[in-house]
Amino acid sequence: MTAMAKLTFYGHACFSLEQGDTTLLFDPFLTGNPAVERYPAELKPTVVLVTHAHGDHIGDAVRIAKDTGACLVSIPETARYAASQGVANVAAGNMGGSISFDFGFVKFVPAWHSSSLGEEHLSVGNPCGFVVKFFNHVVYHTGDTCVFGDMKIIAELTPIDVALIPIGGYYTMDIPEAVKAVELIQPKIAIPMHYGTWPVIEQDPEKFKAEVEKRTKTRCIILRPGASWDIPSSL
Ligand code: NI
Ligand code: MN
Repeated sequence: MTAMAKLTFYGHACFSLEQGDTTLLFDPFLTGNPAVERYPAELKPTVVLVTHAHGDHIGDAVRIAKDTGACLVSIPETARYAASQGVANVAAGNMGGSISFDFGFVKFVPAWHSSSLGEEHLSVGNPCGFVVKFFNHVVYHTGDTCVFGDMKIIAELTPIDVALIPIGGYYTMDIPEAVKAVELIQPKIAIPMHYGTWPVIEQDPEKFKAEVEKRTKTRCIILRPGASWDIPSSL
């Protein structure tokens, strides 16, 4: 029997990717996330990936990494902050670089945004996106970003199976930008994220899906917070 990878959406930009004993957790904004109804206490991530230090992304990452011993992966400034808060296992990479793991690799790619910490919003390095080879599939979590032409190069270098794309606008891409991002990345599957958490980023994911499926060959899957999707081995 072939093992299958499972992708779960926890709302906002938080996803887990699980196969066998390996669990990756992206941007675990759980405490205070209005979209999270139930804290997934059963999650025992092996790797926690943080795209940037804004509270709605670093979220519970430090506590989860400390509780589980998971490796926290981020840009040096954010990884160093996590280490200063007691995370023993950090891996800091930077744009264009990859870190190898048993499941594949995590590659750092640019994201056009900012990254700051705490109430004072002190700037801490750059934000990023992650291209993750997870066993037989490639998942691109873009982080918070606008659309940019180099998404095409990112996807040429590592063809993307599943792209996680913000559509909420205001802080990130809105729907027209997100559809253009899908045109550039040409993933097999696009999943919208970073919308609906607060009124300011309210968007209709069905509009995104309709536009994507009209303009591209990509299929769009809308996951409600708490929902999982088994990535087919054949994808
Ligand atoms: Ni942000
Ligand atoms: Mn954000």
